[in-house]
Amino acid sequence: MDGGHDHGTHPTSSPPGGPAPPRRTGPGAGPLQRMGKGGIGRVIAVGSGKGGVGKSTVAALLASALARSGRRVGVLDADVTGPSVPKLFGLSGPLYDRGEGIEPATTPEGLRVVSSQFMVEDEQTPVIWRGPLVTRLITQFFGGVNWGSLDYLILDMPPGTSDVPLTVFQTIPIDGMVFVFTPQDLAALIVKKAMNMARDLHVPLLGVVENMGFLDCPHCHERIELFGPSRVPKIAEEYGVPLLARLPVDPTLAVKCDAGRVYDYDTPETRALATALADALTSADRSQLTVL
Ligand SMILES: Nc1ncnc2c1ncn2[C@@H]1O[C@H](COP(=O)(O)OP(=O)(O)OP(=O)(O)O)[C@@H](O)[C@H]1O
Ligand SMILES: [Mg+2]
Repeated sequence: MDGGHDHGTHPTSSPPGGPAPPRRTGPGAGPLQRMGKGGIGRVIAVGSGKGGVGKSTVAALLASALARSGRRVGVLDADVTGPSVPKLFGLSGPLYDRGEGIEPATTPEGLRVVSSQFMVEDEQTPVIWRGPLVTRLITQFFGGVNWGSLDYLILDMPPGTSDVPLTVFQTIPIDGMVFVFTPQDLAALIVKKAMNMARDLHVPLLGVVENMGFLDCPHCHERIELFGPSRVPKIAEEYGVPLLARLPVDPTLAVKCDAGRVYDYDTPETRALATALADALTSADRSQLTVL
């Protein structure tokens, strides 16, 4: 895979300037005019019906697990008004443009990250932007960043079905989407709305992840289903997609997230998530071949 985006060698002190022109694709882009992928292999979006279900955490865990397995991984924090990816990885801005696009922030392990958080003074400063600016920012974060060669770019999506996720779906060529649920969301129609929105915009659904549905007691090791038996497998079945992983409520994870060390959370579940995602992509490729 050829990135065509070598890292710049001309230092400059100026932060990111005006938006770079989007790379538009021709054939295959469909009527949505999505941008081209450059040196990025797979673009995977992680979303949910509503906020606070652990989307950013799952996106960061997936990115970390893929990176640990030797893949080159980037994370685009598409939740431009509620960015949290930098905190999870312990990163801070600003970002610079050395002549070949905005250079992403890089974790010690080599994950490349771009977020609107890097453009504000501190964690408490709110990001308040109107629609057109948000659209420009999303476009710039994808097409105007020197991502280099990546096997995976993970998008941490904004929750729900508002204008921002719509913009992301319409501009970024997403290869597949993973939905995160907590078991108590399932009754809400909003979950299905978000999945239907992705489907309507021709974004392939790769699978679902259940987050915080159970707890493994650290003393007696009994598994406690906090909200009763999970209904996530049923939803997955209804949509004809795999249940990629079930992640427990784990205080260790919360502590690592708070400390900016999400990368260090390496468990059988996170490894299984990365493997299941790769498998889901392979089956999605196969079914596309069948259709053709
Ligand atoms: N499996 C888990 N075990 C323990 N804590 C978790 C788990 N998943 C997420 N959390 C914690 O729950 C909180 C919310 O998670 P997160 O920020 O990832 O959710 P989100 O869906 O991205 O929220 P938002 O919609 O605000 O972007 C965080 O404090 C995170 O550390
Ligand atoms: Mg989030």
